[in-house]
Amino acid sequence: MEDIWQKASEAAAYISERIAVNPEMAVILGSGLGELAYEVNDRVEIPYSEIPHFPVSTVVGHSGKLVIGKIYNKNVLMMQGRFHYYEGYELSEVTFPIRVFALLGISSLIVSNAAGGINKKLNPTDIMLITDHINISNISPLRGPNNELFGERFPNMSEAYSLRLREIAKDAALYKDDPDAKIDFKDKILEFAKDVADSEYDAKIELKEGVYAFMRGPQYETPAEIRMLDILGADAVGMSTVPEVILANQLGIEVLGLSCITNATGSGTKPTHEEVIENADKGAAKFKQLVMRIIRRM
Ligand code: HPA
Repeated sequence: MEDIWQKASEAAAYISERIAVNPEMAVILGSGLGELAYEVNDRVEIPYSEIPHFPVSTVVGHSGKLVIGKIYNKNVLMMQGRFHYYEGYELSEVTFPIRVFALLGISSLIVSNAAGGINKKLNPTDIMLITDHINISNISPLRGPNNELFGERFPNMSEAYSLRLREIAKDAALYKDDPDAKIDFKDKILEFAKDVADSEYDAKIELKEGVYAFMRGPQYETPAEIRMLDILGADAVGMSTVPEVILANQLGIEVLGLSCITNATGSGTKPTHEEVIENADKGAAKFKQLVMRIIRRM
């Protein structure tokens, strides 16, 4: 732990050598949401196994590489495959990439996940903008000696999910084009085909909002645990994201969090991994479109 600065510096230096321009934002792709990485232009792919000190992903379906390049005119870095506490990693390992991103100069992070909906208003394939989280697992990646080079000992978590980025996400959900071009774009659509306006081009993406609770997993929750989380004010539950978000906040990285709701735990159904993957796949196209619109506005 004491040489974490050095390890992260070595990893960042390795990545820097492989790319022409350092990325300004990072995206962590959750289960089933990896296809956004295929939208990255002029891409450089770096398997985690090649990066000094990077942990290596163990879950089937998580391919484990960084994809770095451009989306629109933005330099982005995507994490295809992430590390989970339930796999046996320490939280210092789960969040190691975030330290590396900070050293690369990344100032904003979009973090996504598959989550079970607790609030009855959330249905499978819905996208939930994370407004806040409950770290019910009560474990922290910041436990242990603090290296002040990274950030302060007791970081503030009062706006863990940036209000500014949440506003951008809400705007992105409303319109496909960028905000300054709204009028032009609509005019163009009217000129060409009215029916198109109702479909792809002008399509509003429904964006729900809520609080995400972090469970250690890997088992899904019991009905009593779901009732407990509901009473505590959680709208959705998952097994990732919160460790990365805590560290990003310590590092001063602005965070946007998105959950793809893959199952409705509140309805008494029994979640299975197959159902989670299937619904993450079904929601993937909508999710990809939303994140593309968000990146364009950032
Ligand atoms: N619980 C925890 N994690 C999850 C769930 C769930 O119901 N669905 C997807 N990830």
